[in-house]
Amino acid sequence: MRILVTGGAGFIGSNFIRNLLANESECTVVNLDKLTYAGNLENLADVEKDPRYHFVKGSICDVELVDKLLGTKFDALVNFAAESHVDRSIQNATAFVETNVLGTQTLLEACRRHRVPRMVQVSTDEVYGSIGPTGRFTEESPLAPNSPYAASKAAADLLAGAYFRTYGLPVIITRSSNNYGPYQFPEKVIPLFITNALADEPLPLYGDGLHVRDWLHVQDHCQALAVILREGRPGETYNIAGNCERANIDVARLILRALGKPESLIAHVTDRLGHDRRYALDTGKLERELGWRPRIVFEVGLQETVRWYESHEAWWRRVKDGEYREYYHKTYKDLSSFSPQFH
Ligand code: NAD
Ligand code: DAU
Repeated sequence: MRILVTGGAGFIGSNFIRNLLANESECTVVNLDKLTYAGNLENLADVEKDPRYHFVKGSICDVELVDKLLGTKFDALVNFAAESHVDRSIQNATAFVETNVLGTQTLLEACRRHRVPRMVQVSTDEVYGSIGPTGRFTEESPLAPNSPYAASKAAADLLAGAYFRTYGLPVIITRSSNNYGPYQFPEKVIPLFITNALADEPLPLYGDGLHVRDWLHVQDHCQALAVILREGRPGETYNIAGNCERANIDVARLILRALGKPESLIAHVTDRLGHDRRYALDTGKLERELGWRPRIVFEVGLQETVRWYESHEAWWRRVKDGEYREYYHKTYKDLSSFSPQFH
């Protein structure tokens, strides 16, 4: 199977590629990534010499490049490429619309032209908006995004649905809850809190800290995506979640406890604009149809994640200082898999 992964140098995409290469010996992966501030080839240093892995630097918004690439025949495309951080979208939404909406449409169009047999659009629970203190969103719940990020992802979902209904493009949408685990960029709350606590710096907790997120370990997410890629039904949407809701203040306390740091490091700061109070997903469809269930218990996964950041201090310090870009410039020209025709 030859798979194009877009946005594979980011957090979830890099975990997905590593798993795919480890679990599917017959699989070839091409990773198309623009290497924005969030894309880091160091995340895939352990597989960059694998002859089944190829990296192409470029944007999913580049119509010519995407068309040329998809013309080289793929069995599937999995799209992770996105601007992914809500706070950045509140500051400036332009790049979110460009990559998340236009970029996705560029991929859909190229998949249609080249008759790619399967595309997975990796989306988010945020497209449903905030839910009250009880209940869970199903795949049939209306889309009601609140942040510019969520609105751009919802727009991409609608385009994917339109390409399925209008052209019969075999695209599947997945909507996952909050991920955590190794290689997550430390602007997201869990790695931010862990790395701040390690440096004895305050943990900036928005508002009253009682906002609730459902936490899904990135390994569980990648496993769900692999099952959906193989067996999911085209035109369908699947919710993916850890079925593990926690208030942010409790997550902060767990991290501090795991590191033996005092709760006085928690600093209540001004709330995020339009901050969604609670996300919760019903994952019954994925369980019934494809037999998937999350396996990693949050408290265990969080402990392991804390230990990972503890033992990868050089990685997160370079990421926080923006120095990981050096890695790309040093390594790129030596990559055995480098495909110059696509650069
Ligand atoms: P990330 O920010 O860590 O990585 C995004 C990757 O996309 C980076 O490697 C970046 O360089 C690349 N990219 C950005 N713009 C690009 C472009 N125009 N062309 C090519 N590559 C581009 O994001 P993540 O947390 O790994 O999220 C991956 C996907 O999963 C996103 O679509 C996101 O919306 C979705 N998602 C994330 C979570 C989560 O908790 N992190 C939860 C649900 C869904
Ligand atoms: O729900 C899925 C989404 O989860 C993904 O689609 C997004 O790509 C991903 O970034 C994430 O969005 P959130 O906004 O939920 O994640 P974030 O880590 O930014 O924030 C999680 C919660 O923690 C949220 O309630 C805001 C709060 N928070 C966040 C930061 C960065 C703080 O209290 N302090 C902070 O410094």
